[in-house]
Amino acid sequence: MTAAIPEPRVAALRSAAHEVLAGNWRSGHLADGTGYGFSCPSPPRYRHQWYWDSCFHAIVWRLFDPARARAELRTLLSAGRLDGFIPHTVFWHDNAGWRRAPFYATHSLRGDRATAHMQTPMLALAWEMVADASPEHPAFRTEALDALRLHYDWLDTHRDPDRDGLISIIHPDESGLDDAPKYDDVFGWMRHYLPGYFWLVERSRRLGYDSRAIIERYDEHVEDVLVNVLYALSLRALARLTGDAAHTRRAERTERALLERCWDDERGLFWDLAGRDERPVRVSTWSSLAPLALPSLPEPIARRLVEEHLLDPKRYRAPFGIPSVAMDEPSFRAGWHLFRCWRGPAWMNTAWMLVPPMRRLGYAADADRLVASLVALVERHGFREYYNPLNGEGLAARHFGWSTLLVDLLPPSGPASAPSARAPGRRGEPSLLGETLSAGREAVSAVLRAGRGRRAPRA
Ligand code: GLC
Repeated sequence: MTAAIPEPRVAALRSAAHEVLAGNWRSGHLADGTGYGFSCPSPPRYRHQWYWDSCFHAIVWRLFDPARARAELRTLLSAGRLDGFIPHTVFWHDNAGWRRAPFYATHSLRGDRATAHMQTPMLALAWEMVADASPEHPAFRTEALDALRLHYDWLDTHRDPDRDGLISIIHPDESGLDDAPKYDDVFGWMRHYLPGYFWLVERSRRLGYDSRAIIERYDEHVEDVLVNVLYALSLRALARLTGDAAHTRRAERTERALLERCWDDERGLFWDLAGRDERPVRVSTWSSLAPLALPSLPEPIARRLVEEHLLDPKRYRAPFGIPSVAMDEPSFRAGWHLFRCWRGPAWMNTAWMLVPPMRRLGYAADADRLVASLVALVERHGFREYYNPLNGEGLAARHFGWSTLLVDLLPPSGPASAPSARAPGRRGEPSLLGETLSAGREAVSAVLRAGRGRRAPRA
């Protein structure tokens, strides 16, 4: 990767992305003096702090303003409990509105500052990326190691009662993929957006959100592939941050379990495992492809995921982005629906996870095509929550925080680039994720320069 390429379209996208994150920034102090600062996903609908959204926001903030990235992650961590649990949603400045309050998995219906359930635990991964972008603040890398260790210990202790290396979710939205069709049969009448979801929350409430007790008593829980991929990537990041090989061994255990228990050699996909009997959930959603992001994945398997699925025009090779559900699944729905979002539309975090491994494996032209389609989406519709992968329509929330992840797939441009974002890690080695992201940027910039219709993005 050479120096940043002065590229007007890239610069325009970057500045629009910066504007979204800055416009969504919320900061202040609670009555007890606790300070906070984070980008909410998209006001007014999403005005709180969500765990994995904040990780994605910090990953983008590090390109513009690493101080905000650090603040966002510190804020998230400070919402955690002393035992290592960190909530899915934190209501810093604003109570959950009465209309939406029943949707939140809180201990009581009013007055909680945060939910009592988790979200895909990728904090250590984001922490390392932000630390790499903060060479002028070396203390950031080590300031929270105890808290991060505790967090991953909590997950290991409370979410892996069968000790197979795979952590479980007990509510569908704990993965962040709330209504993905892979949860339909598992959660049945209690799935997300059905009235029965209230009962799912209520029964967790009655057991004090004691996940071990919930998993023992009920059969609706899932060893989710996407969750475990980001868990393993985070354990690897934690091992690099702490220098403690115990975290590497844990990551390897999770990666091995994904291969041994979730991989279906016949279908060429990874399946979630549901309930006590660990029934494979054979519905092809993008989480079946997520292990591609694991550098340890054996290459023949990675190539099958790409060639038989990601690049198949009947499955995931759509005109725009990567559909969240394979297009040949009966449950696939490309467009907008008030209560459905993960049943087909293309989301930016999916591409952010899958494009770098495509490049690593040598599918550069396909990765370029994909990124160019994402650029077209944003240039036409701004940073929307998600997009119709068939006709490119921008859908749901506007000014959506993590859609700015697009700029992390683009080459850095002009003076707006934060040079620190490319700084190497503590031991002088860039992280693998950072390396693969950089490898792609130059190629993408060439595609963009060759592109037509240079319109300024609307955020
Ligand atoms: C939706 C998404 C979830 C996200 C939240 C806030 O519920 O499904 O993944 O964290 O919005 O953006």
